[in-house]
Amino acid sequence: MTLTASIPVKRTTQSRLSTIDFSNLGFGNYISDHMLVAKYDKGQWQEPQIIPYGDLMLSPAMLSLHYGQAVFEGMKAFHMKDGNINIFRVERHHKRLNRSLARMCMPAISEELFVAGLEAIVKTDADWIPRDDGSSLYIRPVVFASEAKLGVKVADQYLFVILTSPVGPYFSKPVRLKVELEYVRAAEGGTGYAKCAGNYGGAFYPTQQAREQGFDQVIWTDAKEHNYIDESGAMNIMFVLDNKLVTPALSSSILDGVTRNTIITLAKDLGVVVEERKVSVEEIEKGLQNKKLTEAFGAGTAAVVSPIATINIHGTDYHLPPVKEDSFQLRVKNALGEIRKGTAPDKYNWNHIVK
Ligand code: COI
Repeated sequence: MTLTASIPVKRTTQSRLSTIDFSNLGFGNYISDHMLVAKYDKGQWQEPQIIPYGDLMLSPAMLSLHYGQAVFEGMKAFHMKDGNINIFRVERHHKRLNRSLARMCMPAISEELFVAGLEAIVKTDADWIPRDDGSSLYIRPVVFASEAKLGVKVADQYLFVILTSPVGPYFSKPVRLKVELEYVRAAEGGTGYAKCAGNYGGAFYPTQQAREQGFDQVIWTDAKEHNYIDESGAMNIMFVLDNKLVTPALSSSILDGVTRNTIITLAKDLGVVVEERKVSVEEIEKGLQNKKLTEAFGAGTAAVVSPIATINIHGTDYHLPPVKEDSFQLRVKNALGEIRKGTAPDKYNWNHIVK
C-alpha cells in the first residue's frame, strides 16, 4: 500500500465549502476544510494524518516563535481539461523545501511524505479547487519548530502542516513598485535563498512604508551598495530589455523561484534570448529612459506573471507600456497556462497528475 492510500483522513462534519464565493476569491482569504499534519519527534517524522482545518494546541514557548525556525512553500493545483487534477512542479518545490530546511537546521521531508501528503490533502479537498481560468488551489506546506523551550537551540520537535486555499489572482491590476535603496531584504551568505518565515517578516516594515507612498511592493537591491536588483519579496523580477529576457542571476540572497525557472525554460522554447546575470539599477533606469526596456513583470507561484506598470527609482516614476497581445509576458503566461491545463504537451514533466 502506498503512503497516500494509508494516510488516515478524519473528515469535517461541518464543511464551509458552500459559504465560499468562488467568483470573488482574492488571495489567501479562505482555507479549505482539511489540513495535513505530521509530527517530527525522536529523530523522525511520524505518520501524517488529515484532520479538519482548525487551531492547534501549541506552546507559546515553542522555538519557532522565538528563534524563527519556520519554513514554507507555495504551490498550486489545477483542474485539467481532461478532468484530472494537476499539482504543478512537485519535485522542484520539494527540493527547494529541503534546501530551506537545511539552511534553518530543520529535518528534511522525504519525497514520499511530501508527495503523499500533497496528493492526499488535494484529493480530500478536491471540491475546493476553483474552475475559473486564473484561479487555482494554492497549497501551503509549512514546517515549524514546535518544541517548547526558551534556550536558544535547534529544536528537536517540529510540525509539518499542509493547508490549501482556493485563490484568484494575487494582484488585481498591474503593480507600482519602488526600487528600495535604503532597507535590505537579504545579504549574501544570509537566508535570502531560503523560503523561511523571517525573510517575509523582515520585509514588512519597508514594504509598509512603500505602501504609504502609494506602491504595492518594493524591488529589493543588494545589501552592500544597493546597485543591483535582487527580487521583489513575493516574486522574482524579470525585464524585457533590447528584446531579451533579462533577470537577476540566482545568488544566496535571491529565492530560486519555481515560476522563474519555468518562464526561463519557456522563453528559450519561444526563441527568446535569456540573460541571467547581475542587473544594475542604473541599467534598468537607462532602459526605462531610452525605452529599450519594454516590459517588466514579477514571476512567482502566487503572482504567476504579474505585469509591472510603474517602477520608481530615486524618486522618479517610470511607466511601462500596457501589456499587449503579443507581449512576451502574455505569451509566456499563456504557454504556462496551457501546459498546466494539459492543452499543450508537458515535455518537461512538470505536471503531477492526481487521479
Ligand atoms: C508564493 O508565490 O507562493 C509565495 O510564497 C509568495 C507569497 C505569497 C508569500
